[in-house]
Amino acid sequence: MPVTLVVGGQWGDEGKAKIIDYLARDADVVVRYQGGANAGHTVVVDGERFAFHLVPSGILYPRVTCVLGGGMVIDPVALVREIDGLVARGVDVGGRIRVSAQAHLVMPYHVRLDHASEARKGRECIGTTGKGIAPAYADKAARDGIRMADLQRKRADLEALVRERVREKNRLLRAMGVAGVSAQRVVADLLTARRRLSPLIMDTRPFLWDAVESGRDVLCEGAQGTFLDIDHGTYPFVTSSSASAGGAAIGTGLPPSAFKRVIGIFKAYCTRVGNGPFPSEDHGPEGNLLRDLGNEYGTTTGRPRRCGWFDAVAARTSVRLNGITDIALTKLDVLDALAHIKVCAAYRVGQRELDYFPADVADLSGVKPRYESFPGWKTPAVAGASMPSRALAYVRALEERVGCRIALVSLGPERSAVVQVRRARSSHEGTRRARRRPSA
Ligand code: GDP
Ligand code: IMO
Ligand code: MG
Repeated sequence: MPVTLVVGGQWGDEGKAKIIDYLARDADVVVRYQGGANAGHTVVVDGERFAFHLVPSGILYPRVTCVLGGGMVIDPVALVREIDGLVARGVDVGGRIRVSAQAHLVMPYHVRLDHASEARKGRECIGTTGKGIAPAYADKAARDGIRMADLQRKRADLEALVRERVREKNRLLRAMGVAGVSAQRVVADLLTARRRLSPLIMDTRPFLWDAVESGRDVLCEGAQGTFLDIDHGTYPFVTSSSASAGGAAIGTGLPPSAFKRVIGIFKAYCTRVGNGPFPSEDHGPEGNLLRDLGNEYGTTTGRPRRCGWFDAVAARTSVRLNGITDIALTKLDVLDALAHIKVCAAYRVGQRELDYFPADVADLSGVKPRYESFPGWKTPAVAGASMPSRALAYVRALEERVGCRIALVSLGPERSAVVQVRRARSSHEGTRRARRRPSA
C-alpha cells in the first residue's frame, strides 16, 4: 500500500499534528522522519491538549505503532520524559514505540553549543529552539555522532565513547567562553535512559518495509516546514534537517517510490517563529490580530509567532518542491472575524514579478508582496454545518492560486473539527472502509 506523507508547506506550526491525528484513525503505523525536540506538535482530543516533541502524533490511537525514524536527532532523556508524561496521562504506549538504531542522539553538549552559537551571533542569530538540533546534525555530517545503535553496545564501550566526545566538545565550549558539561553526569543520565530505551531500539527499516509490503497503512509525519528545510528553506535561517518531502525517504528508509500521496499542510494565513525572511509578514495591527485570534505562540518555546497573510507564491513553490497531491488547510476559523483577508499573489521586484520562491534569500531582498483582498465571512465556520459561502470561495481562490486541490479544511484545534471539502482519494481520507465494501 502506498505511504501517505504529511509535510509542512510553510514555516512550521501549520497544524501538522492535528491532521496527522485525524488521518491516523485509519493508520497502522506513523513514522517521523527528521528533526528532534525542536518540533512542537499539538493534538486536542475532547478538550485535552497533548504537545508532542519526539513521539509521533499517532500515539493516541491504541492500534497505531509509532516509529522514530533514522533521520531524527533524539535527546534520549527528553524522549524518556515524554513517554513517561504520556503514560502518566493514561496513554498506553506499551510496545507501540520503535526507535531507529540509525537515529542520532542529541547530547547535553549539543544543547549548550546551540545556545553558545546563538549568543555568539547576537542580533544575527537564527532564533533556534535551543534544543541542540544544529550541533547534533553537524556531528552526524562530520561522522562524530553517537547513534541509538551505540546505546546497545557494551557499557564500557559506550562510556568510553561518550567520555571522549565530552572531552572534545568541552574544549570547543571553553573556546567559546562557555563552561563544559560534566562527563560523569552525562554518562549517568545516558545509562539511565538506555535502560528504558534499549527495548525500543531496532533497525526500523525492515519493520517499515514489511508494513508497506503487507498492505498496512503507513503515515509519514514531517516536522518543521518546507521553508525551514536545510536545502530548500531560507538558508541560513532554517533548521538542520530535510523537512521537505525529499527527506522522508532518507529519514525512514522507505524508497521514494513508496510515497504516492503527499499531503501538504498550510495555515489559511502564515506564521514564522525565529528570524529570517517572511515576505507576507504583517507588522501592523492585523498581524497582531492574527496572533491573538490564532493564539500564535510557540508550542516548544512559547515565543510569539510572527504573523502575516497566506503566501501563494511560497505555497506554489512548496507544492512543486514536495509533489503535494492534496492540501489540508488549517486554522480557517481564525479568519472568521475578519472583514477582509489578504493573499500574497506575487512578489514584485522593481518592475518585475516573481512567481516562485527564490532559492537564495538575497533574491528576496527588496521583494514587495502584491496582495489580493477577499471579503471576510464574519460568521463562524463550523465543522458539520455548511461552510459560509465566502469561506468556501476563499478556499477555492487559494486552490486556484496555488495550483493544488484543497481536500481538507480544519476549523478548530479539536480532532473533530475537520471538513472534507473534496472527494476522498485514498484510505487516509476515509475510504478504507469503502475499499472493504467495494462500490462504484
Ligand atoms: P504543528 O507543529 O504543525 O503540528 O502545529 P502546532 O501544534 O505547533 O501549532 C498549531 C496550533 O494550532 C496548535 O495549537 C493547534 O492546536 C492549533 N490548531 C490546529 N488546527 C487548528 C484549526 O483548524 N483551528 C484552530 N483555531 N487551531 C488549530
Ligand atoms: P514544528 O514541527 C516552527 C525554527 C526555529 C528557528 C529555526 C532553527 O512544530 O512545525 P532549530 O532549533 O531547529 O535549530 O531552529 O527553525 N523551528 C521551527 N519553527 N515550527 C517548528 O517545528 C520548528 N522547529 C524549528 O524557530 O527559526
Ligand atoms: Mg509546532
